[in-house]
Amino acid sequence: MAELDNWSSNASDAIVISVVSPTAEGAITTVSKFHPKFTYSIFGDEERIFGYQKLHINLRYNANDMRPHLGIQYKKKFQAVGETEPDDIKKILKEFLPEVAFQKASEFEAAIKAVPESWTPPGEKVASFPSTKDDSTMEMWKANLADPAVKQLVSRIQILVSFFIEGGTFLDVDEDDANRWTIYFLYCRKSDPKTSKQIYEFAGYCTLYSFYMLQLPTPPASPAQDGSGRTAAKDDLDLGDGNYDLSQLPCRSRISQFLITPQYQGQGNGSRLYGELYKQYLNHPQTIELTVEDPNEAFDDMRDVCDLTYLRTRPDFQKLRINSDIRLPKNGLVPKNILDPSLYDNIRRAAKIAPRQFARVVEMHLMSRLA
Ligand code: ACO
Repeated sequence: MAELDNWSSNASDAIVISVVSPTAEGAITTVSKFHPKFTYSIFGDEERIFGYQKLHINLRYNANDMRPHLGIQYKKKFQAVGETEPDDIKKILKEFLPEVAFQKASEFEAAIKAVPESWTPPGEKVASFPSTKDDSTMEMWKANLADPAVKQLVSRIQILVSFFIEGGTFLDVDEDDANRWTIYFLYCRKSDPKTSKQIYEFAGYCTLYSFYMLQLPTPPASPAQDGSGRTAAKDDLDLGDGNYDLSQLPCRSRISQFLITPQYQGQGNGSRLYGELYKQYLNHPQTIELTVEDPNEAFDDMRDVCDLTYLRTRPDFQKLRINSDIRLPKNGLVPKNILDPSLYDNIRRAAKIAPRQFARVVEMHLMSRLA
């Protein structure tokens, strides 16, 4: 047993993600390097890879179009004994990486050198802001998953969700409803000190979809006819002569995946990306609420600060005060009218923040004022 342990490697240590870029001299330079945080969804709960000694898995990404290349090196490979055989790393990773990642290194290098200088991220540029780290500029590009260039980019970077978001799920880039997905890409644009050539480096992305809140005049939502007792949903409803323009219906817009790559974390980039996209949905007439699917603690912390910062810029929010005339009942429950209920509700609706999140941020605001 102990002997077999010599053939087992910690997957997160063995995998190195390197962001690379071709130089003017025709070489390939490494821009940044980092290890994954999680590998359990790929290599199992133990996060180990069996069958190799001195295993080194280099997942290279071209900095701009995120073309991947997988390189596997090791000193020794375990000779199969009965059913005990080395893990087939390529086969395992084929489920998580597109075919292009498995090409020869020479093909990868030739392809990334051939990317034109005029390359820009897919979609349209919707915002930009200066980097807090150096004199580069962060750019936010908005795109739709139905665009083949976006599908290609998302399929290349999705493995990062498994590597950095606990419980994160893959997006089906080939789903029929691909156009319901909006993707915001965050890129860092800098100029090469030697050539002044503009270089784009991928820094993160966010996926988001909208679902409609049907408020049809007739008929009202009614229990389904199949005896299940459930309420009729969008798919059950007869849209009659089809005269409804879905893009005009009120909807909830939901952030699904949100990721900043490690070399760009902790510099305010996540907050800016969230803040800019929040602004976009605040100005999107059909969006009633901007919500988040399964946020983790790090995301919640970031969002709380962003939401509070925004709300404090609103004059109506500044007016929100604890009604000190109210007597607290003996049952210990906080009465609903401790804050002006209609002001509270109007701000929440105008800010398009979901009830629980809004209550949390208001509490943070009031507590900080009391402190
Ligand atoms: N210099 C230094 N620190 C800064 C600066 C700056 N200029 N600006 C902000 N910070 C601090 C913030 O105050 C904050 O500090 P805190 O952690 O003590 O509160 C911290 O940096 C993080 O804020 P940002 O830099 O704005 O956030 P970041 O760019 O790191 O993004 C995120 C946060 C999205 C959680 C990122 O770390 C990440 O992608 N992690 C891995 C994936 C992940 O967990 N994604 C969310 C999953 S949930 C979902 O997908 C819905």
